[in-house]
Amino acid sequence: MTKTGPLTFAVIGCGTLGTAIARGILDPLDKDSFQIKRLIATVGTEHSKSRVETEFSEHSSRVQVLLATENVRAVQEADVVLLSAKPVKRQEIFDVPGFRDALRGKLLLSIMAGISTKELQRLASGGDGDLERQQPLQAVRTMPNIAAKIREAMSLSTANLDMLTTENKKIASWVYQQVGQQKFVPESTFDISAVLVGCAGSLLLLAVDGLLDAAVAEGVKRPEATEMVMNSALGMMKLVPAGNHPSVLREVIASPGGCSIRALLELERLGVRSAFTAAIMKAAERSKGMSNS
Ligand SMILES: NC(=O)c1ccc[n+]([C@@H]2O[C@H](COP(=O)([O-])OP(=O)(O)OC[C@H]3O[C@@H](n4cnc5c(N)ncnc54)[C@H](OP(=O)(O)O)[C@@H]3O)[C@@H](O)[C@H]2O)c1
Repeated sequence: MTKTGPLTFAVIGCGTLGTAIARGILDPLDKDSFQIKRLIATVGTEHSKSRVETEFSEHSSRVQVLLATENVRAVQEADVVLLSAKPVKRQEIFDVPGFRDALRGKLLLSIMAGISTKELQRLASGGDGDLERQQPLQAVRTMPNIAAKIREAMSLSTANLDMLTTENKKIASWVYQQVGQQKFVPESTFDISAVLVGCAGSLLLLAVDGLLDAAVAEGVKRPEATEMVMNSALGMMKLVPAGNHPSVLREVIASPGGCSIRALLELERLGVRSAFTAAIMKAAERSKGMSNS
């Protein structure tokens, strides 16, 4: 894709993440780099179609919502295509007659978990090795997270940077920067990095849930406990990017004979730190398995 004017953008699979990203680019934080002239979203059911139409009612002059039966039309009319359906749907989507042809020359952005750029290339070429050599796909694989809904995602992208044009790299970065922060990483470290942005947050939420249960057991109402825990945790977390190492912070907080050191020792006794490490390593193993399968 060499075009730099306002873009027509197709979202194939406008569910939770697709909707969050579409919302971000329709009302961008960075209004100078790129603009969305038109957005075409596709979904599986009439129910989802009504949901997305309602969601984007204030952008109705620029947004069109179609059923999955019109995926080919959506891609034909687009400059950039975001694939945000479930990974299990990928073969069905690419196998529709005309889909691969419609994709030719477009920038393909995929957030499908576990689907490598090599697999995207295979899907797009329909297993035709010659075509693959002649027309390397302009594809960027990204792992965002659900915080895209509030423009606070950390999105990791990877691509064959020898093939991807500078303009397409800029477009991909711009898209994800409208829903948070974005960076490119090599595909060799993508699986473990993707697990960190995709799963680590949910592990921390499990810890938050445990803290809330304790507060409720001790008589604090859950909404009040949630406010206290979340606000203190968010403030504490922000100290880390401000230059404080987590272990140093822990030592500073744990004063001699105090409450924090007792709580920390109890967590160590229960093996919580190594449990977090083991959980992420399990997830990374699974992520590598998905990419290689
Ligand atoms: N959720 C996360 O936190 C997260 C994080 C990182 C990456 N991802 C990846 O993001 C992708 C989307 O996840 P999600 O949670 O947003 O899923 P989702 O809410 O289930 O969205 C999927 C959407 O695809 C639509 N769809 C189904 N079949 C289709 C087809 N043949 N053509 C076009 N659209 C079709 C569905 O419509 P109907 O519902 O009407 O069938 C739905 O709107 C997945 O590949 C996932 O691996 C998700």
